[in-house]
Amino acid sequence: MKFTPVFLLLYLIIGAGIMPVYAGDSVSLDVPPASLEEWYKPANKRQVWLHTMFRLRREMQAIGEYAEQKDQAGMKKWISRLEKDYSKIADMVPEWEKEIKPRLLPELEMFAEKGDTPRLAKTLKMIQRTCDDCHSDYQPLVTAMYRSPHYEDIKVKGLNGAPQSFTDNMENLSDSVNRILIALEDGHKAVAQQARQNLVDQLQHLGDSCNRCHKDDKYPRERILGEETQQRFKTLQSNIDKGQVKDSQKLMGEIAVTVCARCHNTHRIVSDLRNALLPD
Ligand code: HEC
Ligand code: HEC
Ligand code: HEC
Repeated sequence: MKFTPVFLLLYLIIGAGIMPVYAGDSVSLDVPPASLEEWYKPANKRQVWLHTMFRLRREMQAIGEYAEQKDQAGMKKWISRLEKDYSKIADMVPEWEKEIKPRLLPELEMFAEKGDTPRLAKTLKMIQRTCDDCHSDYQPLVTAMYRSPHYEDIKVKGLNGAPQSFTDNMENLSDSVNRILIALEDGHKAVAQQARQNLVDQLQHLGDSCNRCHKDDKYPRERILGEETQQRFKTLQSNIDKGQVKDSQKLMGEIAVTVCARCHNTHRIVSDLRNALLPD
């Protein structure tokens, strides 16, 4: 136990700067300026902000690597690119002007020209700190806001044939899953069989919506709702018929993991996070 204070201290030192700000038992995240929106789809044709970021990282890496190799021409080329892209940050989002230090770029250039690698490395680090500071304040929320898929305007066919919202389809899926489990436990074969058929139909209708986002790509649907899943539902049907409760429950567990949880892991987590952080 005598190590605890050391670990705690280390945790505080390492944790500072990467963690969101904690006040008591609440967490505060900064909402990005609204002007950022125009650099993302659908307001823009491309994810302009994000691609500027990818370039910035490449430029920082190139400068660092050429500095180690003492390749002046290489450094010069990439410093001038970094200068352009770094200043775009404030051009795109003027509210973020105070987050960057453009004066460091001419210094970087000077140290490169003089071949003063230690001071160049130090300046590069100072630039990197401006990247890190902004990221720890804003990055997760921006990703959730502008890069997580939206399900609000997707309609799915309901069991009665009428269109329903994605969320209502989810509620109904959940009802069917639980109805099957209740009926299995209480020995109501016909109810279990009917709920199983409903679940199959509901998933079929949900599957019709995959290509709203996965255009010309059959693989995502195949992975969640393909051959393996259909086979499980067939086996479930005959298990219920034969009154094999344990086997049926086991199959339901497999379906919940391979269909529901597998899809939720990519699709639901970010969507729930965004809805929790930004209730409209
Ligand atoms: C597209 C892949 C996908 C599949 C497959 C899927 N879900 Fe979902 N589910 C989502 C997404 C996305 C959300 C959050 C969006 C929403 O609530 O509209 C969600 C939300 C939910 C919710 C919360 C609904 C609410 O009221 O907010 C429940 C319950 C649910 N799913 C149950 C299930 C069950 C049970 C299955 C399996 C039989 C399943 N889901 C399969 C994507 C999926
Ligand atoms: C004023 C704020 C700000 C500054 C300064 C900034 N960034 Fe970013 N950066 C962001 C935001 C916001 C995101 C999240 C974008 C998203 O997820 O769509 C991001 C994301 C990134 C990503 C993408 C991470 C990923 O894999 O999804 C990279 C790489 C990146 N930044 C590099 C840099 C570098 C290198 C610098 C410094 C030279 C820098 N950024 C400076 C705000 C900033
Ligand atoms: C609102 C948009 C949207 C809808 C609707 C949607 N997805 Fe996705 N899905 C995404 C995004 C975004 C990703 C992550 C990027 C990628 O892999 O394309 C993703 C990733 C996936 C992945 C992981 C990547 C892979 O190819 O293995 C699977 C599996 C998947 N989706 C299955 C489905 C299924 C099944 C449906 C329909 C039931 C569905 N998706 C409906 C947006 C959507």
